[in-house]
Amino acid sequence: MAIRNIRQIGDSVLNKPCKDVKEMNERTRELIEDMFDTMYEADGVGLAAPQVGILKKIFVVDVTGEDPMLFINPEILETDGEQTGYEGCLSVEGKSGLVTRPNHVKVKALDINMNEFETEAEGFLARAILHESDHLSGVLYVDKVEGPLLTNEELAKLMEEKEANEKNEA
Ligand code: NI
Repeated sequence: MAIRNIRQIGDSVLNKPCKDVKEMNERTRELIEDMFDTMYEADGVGLAAPQVGILKKIFVVDVTGEDPMLFINPEILETDGEQTGYEGCLSVEGKSGLVTRPNHVKVKALDINMNEFETEAEGFLARAILHESDHLSGVLYVDKVEGPLLTNEELAKLMEEKEANEKNEA
């Protein structure tokens, strides 16, 4: 198990497009294992290779903590619907912002054995897949954010207020 250093916003590696993975080898396997370890260690729900300084089309996602998913050379085939919600990124520490994304995604990618698979996702998992997929094009969510970036404390306060309002309305 190896935890890699997570690059932070301002590091130019986060703004560069990634290259296709041509073949699976020991080095890439190790990178993928480290990406999972690094994501779990940081309490994240997704991590893309450029976030650990590697410009390869690889990302990992786990939105439940029990459902690790790996995407190599992913291609978004279809999107539809719309969702707006708060989003964060391990490369933009301690901040969140409101982002609108499709609510549904169909994606094609390669697995650890370089076999092609297709999967569909909705809601938060779709958001995570689209967020990580953007990283492979050098795009961060802050480029898509509506309104200000909030600190964790501001977001927690907002969520408390929202909850209180919803209770009042009920
Ligand atoms: Ni991110």
